[in-house]
Amino acid sequence: MAQSPSPAVVTVTGAAGSIGYAALFRIAAGAMLGPDTPIRLRLLEIPSAVSAAEGTAMELDDSAFPLLRDVEVHDDPKRGFDGTDVALLIGSRPRSKGMERGDLLAANGQIFTVQGRAINQVAADGVRVLVVGNPANTNALVAANNAPDIPAERFTALTRLDHNRAIAQLARRSGAAVKDIRRVAIWGNHSRTQYPDIFHARVGDRSGAEFAADREWLTGDFIPTVANRGSAIIEARGASSAASAANAAIDHVHDWVLGTPEDDWTSVALPSTGAYGVPEGLVSSFPVRSVDGSWQIVDGLEIDDFSRKRIDASVAELESERDAVRVMGFI
Ligand code: NAD
Ligand code: LMR
Repeated sequence: MAQSPSPAVVTVTGAAGSIGYAALFRIAAGAMLGPDTPIRLRLLEIPSAVSAAEGTAMELDDSAFPLLRDVEVHDDPKRGFDGTDVALLIGSRPRSKGMERGDLLAANGQIFTVQGRAINQVAADGVRVLVVGNPANTNALVAANNAPDIPAERFTALTRLDHNRAIAQLARRSGAAVKDIRRVAIWGNHSRTQYPDIFHARVGDRSGAEFAADREWLTGDFIPTVANRGSAIIEARGASSAASAANAAIDHVHDWVLGTPEDDWTSVALPSTGAYGVPEGLVSSFPVRSVDGSWQIVDGLEIDDFSRKRIDASVAELESERDAVRVMGFI
C-alpha cells in the first residue's frame, strides 16, 4: 500500500481577515497542496483578532475536512511559524486616513521584520513563503532580509492575481476561453506601475502580439484595466479584493509545489538574480516556471522598447521602496 505523504504545516497570518477567511477552507479542502497531502493549519493573528480567528478555527473543525489534521491559533510569531512548511503572510497594516506612503512602509517594515526573524528561527528547513499583504514586494524583501539562513528565493510576493486578471481581460478581448490563454507575464511591482505583458502570450492558435498590435486597446484599455483593477474593486466593493486574492495565493503555492503546466508559465515576484536587467535582490515580478519545486525565471524573452520602458518604470518604484525601508533600517 502506498504511504500517504506526511502532513504539511501551513501558517496563515491575518487569518481572521477577509482573504484569510476566503483561503483557509479551500486550503483545508486540498486545493493548494493537492488531494493527498494532510494539512496542519496555524492561524496567526494580532491579539485583538485572536477571538475571531478562534471562531474561524471552530468552523474549520465543523467542516470535517478529511485532510485537516489540526488547527491552532496564535498571536506569537515564534509559535505560529513553528515547523511551518508554507507561510502565507496575508496580515499587514492597511493604509488608514492621513497615513503617508512612508508611514505604511514603516508600519509594515516592523511587522515583516519580526515575522522574517521568526521564520528564520523556527520554520521547517524547506519553508516556502508567499507575501500577500501590501506593499507585498517590499514586505517580502524585508522578510527575506531578516531571514539570513533561508535561501532568498523561498521568499515570494503575490502577482498571480495580476496574472489572472490579465488572462481574464485577454479572454474577454479575444473571445478565447481562459484555458486557451497561456504565457502572459506580469513584470515589476504589485502596484499600478506593474507591466502586464502579452507580447509572448498564446491565445489559442494566435499570438498575443497580434492583440498587442492594437496599441489603442493595449495602452488605453488592457494595461490600465489590469494595473488599476485592485483600486476599481476597492471602489466597487468598498473593500479590497478578497476571494480572487485568496484564489491567486492558492494558485501560486499550488504551482510552486506541484509544478506549472508544460507549455505555460506564471508570474511571481521573487528576489531578482539580475535577470532582464532588474537589480539583484529586488523582489520583482517575472514570468516563471516551477521546476522540481523551485521557481525558474523564463529566460531569453525578447523585450522591445515598449516593454522595456514599462518594466523599468515599475522597477524604479521598487528601488525607491527598497531605499525607503533601507533608510528605516529594516534591511
Ligand atoms: P483584512 O483587513 O480583512 O485582514 C487583515 C488581517 O490581518 C486582520 O485580521 C488583522 O488583524 C491581521 N493582521 C494585521 N497585522 C498582523 C500581524 N502583524 N500579524 C498577523 N495578523 C495581522 O485585509 P485583507 O482584505 O485580508 O487583506 C490583507 C492584505 O492583503 C492587505 O494588505 C491587502 O492590501 C493585501 N492584498 C494583496 C493582494 C495582492 O495581490 N498582493 C490582493 C488583495 C489584497
Ligand atoms: C488588489 O490588487 O486587489 C489589492 O492589492 C488592492 C489593495 O490595495 O489592497
